[in-house]
Amino acid sequence: GVIDFSMLEGYAGYLLRGIYITLLFTFVSALFGFVWGAILSLFKISSIKPLQWFATFYTSVFRGTPLLLQLVLIYYATPQVLGYDIPALQAAGLAFGLNSAAYLSETIRGGILAVDKGQREAAMALGIPYGTMMISIIFPQAIKNILPALVNECVALVKESSLISVIGVADLMRRANVVQADTGRALEPLLFIGAIYYVLVLVLTSLARLLERRMRRSD
Ligand code: ARG
Repeated sequence: GVIDFSMLEGYAGYLLRGIYITLLFTFVSALFGFVWGAILSLFKISSIKPLQWFATFYTSVFRGTPLLLQLVLIYYATPQVLGYDIPALQAAGLAFGLNSAAYLSETIRGGILAVDKGQREAAMALGIPYGTMMISIIFPQAIKNILPALVNECVALVKESSLISVIGVADLMRRANVVQADTGRALEPLLFIGAIYYVLVLVLTSLARLLERRMRRSD
């Protein structure tokens, strides 16, 4: 037949287990990207010129070249440079974290600059040290303001994580390819994982909307 989902029988469990890999990978690279992106955003607003230059150059490189290129470069070139293999999942987390940090550093920088200047002046007048002020006063407000952009970044990561199938990580995408090779049927496994990606994104955006509503109520 043209479309026959019963052919997925015996493969559904295998495909569904890809959710775990895809979500775990997304979570780890989002976390890494966020921490490194936050540091880069501080570099960008710092008064130390070399830090600004570094962060600006970093962003232009990671935003200006394909993520897929960065992924295979890290995976295949690392053994040649350092002399040891990097596991595919680690290479992927590194590539995605470094890439996401470039985008997030811009988002977070914007969020920090949008926090009212009076907050900063008041903190300084009270003699609160720079680090404490940033972490406990400026940062929480900045994060609240940029929450929708952070959710967008997570959505992008969920979907782009399908690229890691290229280096053999057994995520959703890779598993659909394996089923296709095994059965000679492309449509059903691809539609199946397509629906899974869609639901994952839907759940993510719904959770975000809930969180946002709760935050607005606490204002
Ligand atoms: N497709 C883009 C690329 O090839 C990656 C986009 C990643 N976007 C993001 N917001 N992290 O570079």
